[in-house]
Order: sequence, then C-alpha cells, then structure tokens
Amino acid sequence: MDSKQPKTILFVDDEESILSVSSEYFQRKGYQTLTAKSGAEALQILKQQSVDCCFTDINMPEMNGLELAEKIRINDNTMPVIVMTGFPSLENTIQTIKNGVVDFLIKPVNLKQMELSVQRVIQQRKLFVENVLLKKEVESKRRLEKLNQELLYKVEELNILNKIMSKFETISSSTDVFKRAVDLALEIVHADLTGFYVINEAIQEPVEVSFAAAGQQGVTPTSSVSETVGDMPLAQHHQSLEPSKSALIMDVVTDEIPLLIAENPGTDGLTPDIRSAMIVPLKIRETVFGVLTAFVNQGAKRFVEKDLYYLSFLAQSAAHAIENLALYENIYENLFATLYAFVKAVEARDLYTQQHSSRVTGLSLILGQHLGCSKEELDTLNFAGHLHDIGKIGIRDDILLKPGRLTSEEFEKIKDHPVIGANILEQLGLWEQERQIIRCHHERFDGSGYPDGIKQQKIPFLARILSVADVYDAMASDRAYRKKMQDDVIIKIINDGVGTQFDPDVVAAFNKVYKEGQITRYMETGEIN
Ligand SMILES: [Fe+2]
Repeated sequence: MDSKQPKTILFVDDEESILSVSSEYFQRKGYQTLTAKSGAEALQILKQQSVDCCFTDINMPEMNGLELAEKIRINDNTMPVIVMTGFPSLENTIQTIKNGVVDFLIKPVNLKQMELSVQRVIQQRKLFVENVLLKKEVESKRRLEKLNQELLYKVEELNILNKIMSKFETISSSTDVFKRAVDLALEIVHADLTGFYVINEAIQEPVEVSFAAAGQQGVTPTSSVSETVGDMPLAQHHQSLEPSKSALIMDVVTDEIPLLIAENPGTDGLTPDIRSAMIVPLKIRETVFGVLTAFVNQGAKRFVEKDLYYLSFLAQSAAHAIENLALYENIYENLFATLYAFVKAVEARDLYTQQHSSRVTGLSLILGQHLGCSKEELDTLNFAGHLHDIGKIGIRDDILLKPGRLTSEEFEKIKDHPVIGANILEQLGLWEQERQIIRCHHERFDGSGYPDGIKQQKIPFLARILSVADVYDAMASDRAYRKKMQDDVIIKIINDGVGTQFDPDVVAAFNKVYKEGQITRYMETGEIN
C-alpha cells in the first residue's frame, strides 16, 4: 500500500448535508471522498472502487449502519468502518463491535475528531494488512521449505528404489541375484555385513548363499565351510551364524515380517558384537524361501525404519528377479524344446541327416572348448548348433529330400535356409547371438559364402566354428547321393579350405583335436572327452 497515495473515504448517511460537509472538509485535507445515501449504494460503490475507510450513520432506512458494516466485513475484513450515532445504547455498542466496526463516534461529531479517527484506523489497517501478509509469507516460506525437504527426500528415495530395480533388470542367473542383493544392501543401508540365506527345509535352518562385508564380498561356496572366500576364511565368517542368530532368522521366516533391531539390547539372541540388525524375508508366490540380513558391527550407524523399508524393497526386487528368471528359463527351455522338435522333424524326413544337428553341436563344442570359449559361448554354441538348420522347415520336400544332384535353381532354394532359420528366431525376439550364428553358418572365410557374403572377422567366431563342424559331419556321414567319405579325404578337404572356406585358427584346432582322437571317439560314441 502506497502511503503517499491520497486515501479514499466513503461517507454513508441519509442526510445529504452531513455528506457534503464531511466530504468538503476531508477533500480540503487531501483525501478523496465518495458519498452514498444508503447502505445499498455504499456496497455498490465498494464493488467498483478502492476505498480506505468508511464512515456510516447507524440510523438509515432499509439497511442500517450495522448491517452495512457486517456486509462490508464479509467482503473485506480489513476495511475499517467507523460508525456514528446520535444515541449510543449498550446493545448497539456490542453489535457494533461484533460486526467488526473499528471505531465509534457519537453525534454531533466534530470534524477534527473524525479526521483523527480516520488517521488512526488507516494506520491500524496498514499494520494489520502488513502483519497478515508477513504472516502469510512466513507461513508459505515454511511450507515451501517443508515441501522442498519432502521433495528432496522423495527424490532420494525414488533414486534408491530406481537403482535397486535397475540393478535387477539385467540379471542372468540366480547366483547373480544373490550377489547383487547383498552388494546393494551393503551400499544402500550402509551395513557392515549383509547376507543372503535360503532356508533348508529338511533341517529347518538358514544356509548362507551369498554375503558382502564392508571391504570384501563373495558368493559362499556350498561345498565346505573350510573354504575361503577372497582373503576371508569362511569359518570365521560363519561364526556370526551361531545358533541364536539362526533362530532369529527362522523366527522371521515363520512370522514373515521384517525385523528391525535398531540397537542390540543383548536379549534377542544376538552376540554383543552386533550393534544393529535387520532381517527381511524373501517371498516368491507368498512363500518365504530365504532372508536378506544386514548387520552393523562398529561405528555409530544404527538402522532406522527407512533402512528396513529399503532392505524390504530390495528383498522384494530380488525375489521378483528370481521369479522372472525361473519363468524365463522355463520359457527358454520350452521354446528351445519346441524349436528342436522342428529340427528333429526335418531330420526325420531324411534318413541321412538324422542326428546331424546333434553331432554338429557335439563337434562344435569340442572345437569351442579347445579354442577357449567361455561357458556362455558354449551355451550359445549348443543352442545354435542344434537349431542351425531349422530354416530347412521352409524348404520343399522334393528339393530337400532329392536324391542326386540339385539343379542350380534348387540349390538357390536350399540356400534360403540360414535366412529362414534366422527369421524364425527373430520373430521370437530372443537369442540375438544365436540368430546371427544360424544366419552365418554357410558364410565362407573369404567372403564367397551365403547369404551375406561377409568374410573373416565379420563372420561371428562361433559361426566359423560351427561351419567346420557342419562340413565335417556332412562328409563323414552317408548321404542320399553318396556314401560317407574317408577321414583322410575329409581332413585334406578341410585343410584345403583354410583361408578360403574356413578360419585357419578353427582348422588348426580341428587338426589338433582330431590327432588326439577326440573327433573319432565322439563320432563313434557320442561322448565329448
Ligand atoms: Fe546348413
């Protein structure tokens, strides 16, 4: 409110002479004035104009001054209303105050008196408004700060929950889930030791499968407690799972309720070296199958409800990951079985190609092992080997089963099978690597193969392995149009293909394992090594 701005006063009286006298006087004093002959007129003016103070007579027809004061107050409770009356009564006075009238003048009113009253109430109004605004500002500031803090808290919480969820998204085995759960728990709740236990139903005891300790971590081998994990002797580590702690875990398993011991009172069966502890159950389909534990052994850290919330969320996420994994493994196995059934159906139509895919797989695995492939690569090879010719489903029987030589058109049709096979897998949206191997198993090292004519390192390494195994088995078995070939002839053909059809490294591996007798043994017995 600008104090230099002239103040506007509204005079309400049914006597015109009073209006004109007051108006004139206040105008001379530098005020702006407005006049109304009735309450209704006054309210109309107040709707349209900004007024700083209102003088009203009490006794007016239709709406008296007190009614007007009340209506004004309902609209704007900061507006000062000064009432003037000739005959003050106690009842009137009380009503006046109730209606929010700030001053009371008794007629006949002296103009100077009116001016003082105006100055006073306008000053009061200014303070009142400032005070209200200030209060509002302080309140909204406080509320903002609180909101801000809550927001920060929420953001932090969301970040943590998000981190937990994303960590479990890219997991490929149950062991990974256990390990990731304990590592994450250690980090998020700032524990000194976290553990993952599954419940051995037979002995009704928790068995540790994974743990993480501040500064060291590992997966617990299940074979023997005398083994060590990293530098930490497992025996020492297992100390913490003394019977009372084990009983506490089994309590949580029975109650199915997360347990928080903020401060170890020494009566819950925990050894005194544990200062703070949390144990949360992991449920899959409403059944508890394990627990996640977190302990503090040193320092000032104590677990609070929030930590329990995070650990519970973590346990829940881990349980979901395990469930999904089981589900995925199931789907994966089912799909693989279905696809392989197709391959076997194709092979069954041709007496000569029966077991071809299975033998190619075995030979590929022998070569892969010799070439130092990882477990995952061997799994991929196993899958792709069994399914490499699945695209033959799409080739007409009269071409596929034709005894004798194929015409060039027929051969072109046969050449579609790697692409058809890759497309089948693509439609399932799974097994990208396997799909590439299936597509590339007829590519040649010098780029003269099909379907893409890619060469050397552009051809996936596992496809280069599969290619040697595929060709060897084709020559080493009877075909509709010829008897199986002699091994020395096959070895020569394969070695002649070094650098043109085959990867030299794969052929070198083949020669080595052939000399060792692994190939012949496998072809005779079906056993690897
Ligand atoms: Fe093939």
